[in-house]
Amino acid sequence: MNKTEARKKIEKLRKDINFHNHKYYVENNPVISDYEFDQMLKKLESLELEFPDLITPDSPTQRVGEKPLDGFNTVEHKIPMLSLANTYTYDELKDFDERVKKYVLDVEYVVEPKIDGAGVALLYENGVLVRGATRGDGVSGDDITQNLKTIHSIPLRLQGNELKNIEVRGEVYMSVEGFKKYNKEQEKIGGIVFANPRNATAGSLRQLDSRIVAKRPLDIFIYFLSFSDKDLESHEKALIALKNAGFRINPLWKKVPEIKSAIKYCKKLEEIRKKVDYEMDGAVIKVNSFAQQKKLGETSKNPRWAISYKFSAKQSTTRLKDITVQVGRMGTLTPVAILKPVEVGGVIVSRATLHNFDELKRKDIRIGDWILVERSGDVIPQVVKSFYEKRTGIEKGKKVPKRCPVCGTQVNRSEGEVAIRCPNKMCPARLKWRLRYYASRDAMDIDHLGESTIDKLLDEDLVKNIADLYSLKLEDILKLEGFKEKSAQNLIKSIEKSKKQDLSRLIYGLGIRHVGKYTAQLLASKYSSIDKLSKASEEELKEIDGLGDKSAEAIVTFFSTEENIKLIDRLKDTGIKTKEKRKQELPLQGKKFVFTGSLTSFSRPEAADFVKNKGGIVGSTISKDIDYVVVGGNPGSKYEKAKKLNIKIINEDEFKKIVI
Ligand code: IVH
Repeated sequence: MNKTEARKKIEKLRKDINFHNHKYYVENNPVISDYEFDQMLKKLESLELEFPDLITPDSPTQRVGEKPLDGFNTVEHKIPMLSLANTYTYDELKDFDERVKKYVLDVEYVVEPKIDGAGVALLYENGVLVRGATRGDGVSGDDITQNLKTIHSIPLRLQGNELKNIEVRGEVYMSVEGFKKYNKEQEKIGGIVFANPRNATAGSLRQLDSRIVAKRPLDIFIYFLSFSDKDLESHEKALIALKNAGFRINPLWKKVPEIKSAIKYCKKLEEIRKKVDYEMDGAVIKVNSFAQQKKLGETSKNPRWAISYKFSAKQSTTRLKDITVQVGRMGTLTPVAILKPVEVGGVIVSRATLHNFDELKRKDIRIGDWILVERSGDVIPQVVKSFYEKRTGIEKGKKVPKRCPVCGTQVNRSEGEVAIRCPNKMCPARLKWRLRYYASRDAMDIDHLGESTIDKLLDEDLVKNIADLYSLKLEDILKLEGFKEKSAQNLIKSIEKSKKQDLSRLIYGLGIRHVGKYTAQLLASKYSSIDKLSKASEEELKEIDGLGDKSAEAIVTFFSTEENIKLIDRLKDTGIKTKEKRKQELPLQGKKFVFTGSLTSFSRPEAADFVKNKGGIVGSTISKDIDYVVVGGNPGSKYEKAKKLNIKIINEDEFKKIVI
């Protein structure tokens, strides 16, 4: 192929990819499968590899940088990024309306959600994204173009010809679901969790390596056209033009004729707040006409033509009674605030996280302080700050522990990490988490072995590792507070019953890093015994379709640790099932199923067992490597997604025919 042909092909591919990218990430309505999309991208990549001088910064292949930056450049905003004045009552909104009317008459407003994330400015020249920056101090911010490019709903090139040279403002955010998932994964691997979606967003945008940012579930809503070389009349028209240019605009914006209806719509948004998957912390009311906005101008800090109405805060003030230290599953020490109980957004809170000791020091939070506590993103409450002005002098700081509060071992801290860890793998605190994990419903599902029973067993020194559970005798359990003959027998029976659990549950229950339910099933169906799995090499594991590199590394590490080998040997001695009939010949070997909606003939666990008995695997999220989606009554969004990805969809009857 000569260069002219290549250029043509490349142009066409970029156009098509941009079109489908927009369909998928902005409209949420893909018209081709992920596979087809990936193929187009691969084709473009290989052409660009052949003709590297045809690569342009706005090519869809350039969304993720190849190496980390040394630091961010500071850039001056084209137009200062002002912040909005806040109001908390409807009366204040009426005052705002009166102030506006001193300058202009016949005002229309646009009301829209206020998103709680990180404000950014995007600059386009000749329709191409040339720069993206943080707000910074409002006058200048950090150039984070490389990070922003990883957000697929940000167009690298504008659609259509209406807008060409513009600056837009928007809010980058992390969805609440994405945030929870991210934190859960971090917790599992003993990493640092974020306090709320806003911190997660800001923290992600500060990363110097855009490859890391690309993995974080970030998205953006654009809410303001701050500069345009084309004259537009109003905010409403700007939003429409921005939408047509390919930006993601929050669909909940509404034009209203006067302040009364603006207030009414604020109320409505506050109701909708609970239903959306992002943190909406208020509403923004903007004067619609650009001519009027210009007349109103701005004060030194805020525009006079817009105001934010903050929804009732999920924050309260209370006293910090004490700070205790919790030891997590991976041995991480977390400071926890013990509070004078207080209501926060309708829930009584008496404990809150202080995240880590660095944060504690940075915020200078002391025992005895008056503090502000917040619940956000449905997560554990957290201490936001101390009110220093209320101090009397008797408040006491909390020292960073030198030893684990549970086992007394000297703690350590890896270089570059915030987390302080107890290195003792036999620490009872860790053991407690491991036992809880092992007995949990998705793992060995041991009835009657809940948190308090585990605590009692540990207090009495009856178990020192998972295998000890199987040596427990009736008389041991009868020693525990609250246990009678019958309840003790029940516990013994459940423990005994767990010996026959599926291999995949055992693998999951061992608590190997990066090995979730789904990976455990994959491993069980591939290896059919713990022995075989323990001998698998990293290369071999990495070959498995659907298994990540991190999991492969973690599995090898797990099985090369002496204590773990000993544990497996002891488990085998107890007669627990560590191998399964060779499932290679089973009819559904390796086939992946996902369920959505309610089934009439069996419960979900029953249906899952049918699949597993035939060698199949049950997943919980739709991706292109799923073979069947079983749809019951009232299916959820998984059904829509499966349709989009062209996955085979079957109903309950068809499912029965396959598995029974
Ligand atoms: S308009 C000059 N609209 O809230 C007007 N801001 O203090 C610029 N924000 O820094 C802001 N949602 O980061 C506007 N729909 C929305 C918004 C919004 C969130 C953020 C933005 C801004 C801060 C205002």
